[in-house]
Amino acid sequence: MSNEKDLRVLLAIESSCDETAAAVVREDGEVLSSIIASQYELHQDWGGVVPEIASRAHLRRIIPVIREALTAANTTTDQLGAVAVTTEPGLVGSLLVGLTAAKTIAMGLRIPLVTVNHIEAHIYACGMGSTADIYPSVGFVVSGGHTNLYDCRSATECRLIGGTTDDAAGEAFDKVARILGLPYPGGPSIQKAAESGDSNRFQMPRPLLHSGKLDFSFSGLKTAVLYAARGVPGPKQLPETPPEIVPDLAAAFQQAAIDVLVHKCLLAAKQLNYSRICVGGGVAANTEFRKSMETATKKRGLTLNVAPPELCTDNAAMAAVAWELLAAGRTASLDADVLPGLVRPGRKRQRKTASK
Ligand code: KG4
Ligand code: ZN
Repeated sequence: MSNEKDLRVLLAIESSCDETAAAVVREDGEVLSSIIASQYELHQDWGGVVPEIASRAHLRRIIPVIREALTAANTTTDQLGAVAVTTEPGLVGSLLVGLTAAKTIAMGLRIPLVTVNHIEAHIYACGMGSTADIYPSVGFVVSGGHTNLYDCRSATECRLIGGTTDDAAGEAFDKVARILGLPYPGGPSIQKAAESGDSNRFQMPRPLLHSGKLDFSFSGLKTAVLYAARGVPGPKQLPETPPEIVPDLAAAFQQAAIDVLVHKCLLAAKQLNYSRICVGGGVAANTEFRKSMETATKKRGLTLNVAPPELCTDNAAMAAVAWELLAAGRTASLDADVLPGLVRPGRKRQRKTASK
């Protein structure tokens, strides 16, 4: 058995959206530290993430966050065996801050640079803390930026097979929270309000539920909440949602969104003939969604791996997937770039590998 002291450690950096995060992860998967500087307070007045505000906040916070992660892990820079960083997908300005920091560290310390796909990291997080092999599986990433289904053959081979045609599920939670006068981020606020609500009082649509395809649409659901809350557009539409109907509306919206998410996820497992489903991303922290996924998968004899709540929302610890890339010799070159967009179903992603 190897001595823990002999195991290599890497520094992971995540800045794809509105969390500046750094973690130190050992090659056996042990997370030695995980620091997250959230930007919620900077974006809450806008009801969503403002890209330029996010990039500037990353710039201010990235060095202190990295320092804190190293200190918390009791690790010095000369002990680092590699530096990993999220380079896709995400907000371009935000990704560039993390990548620039990582390149500087890799160059200064002469250690390998590993570029991480944020989606693959969200799915990898579903297996962290357990010894079970979670591949092959349906990977489901439900967050503020994504509602995507993947055919995951391994930690680094996740092929997009379906996704949202408009808003992401987390984005819908955030926008509906705004309509209901609840604080940002909307997911936790709606979950809390829904606890005392009756999900049957208001009838909400389940968009594309029976399309037979792995597609989602949440913008119509959001509009249905708006009309139920304040009335249709016109002189009689209320400027604000009456507080007494907020819990029932929150519960009705949450249930409608969950019904669609669960149904499509099961459909993907059926289409791929897979018996395992992995769910990650911020919305996977939702208690009712987790419960519904557990019940539905149990009923069909499927295995479910949901990321631990602290690894659902953005963090750098899940960039531990970099160890898989390192094992496969997939280090990146120092001219690596960011890839902000998602790769559409059927198209292959390019990952630039360092020339030997
Ligand atoms: O994964 P994440 O931190 O960032 C992205 O990659 O987007 O996800 C953030 C999203 C937000 O839209 C937030 O409202 C949602 O996840 N979220 C939740 C919950 N906690 C966070 N949605 C529903 N229920 C929750 N408990
Ligand atoms: Zn994310």
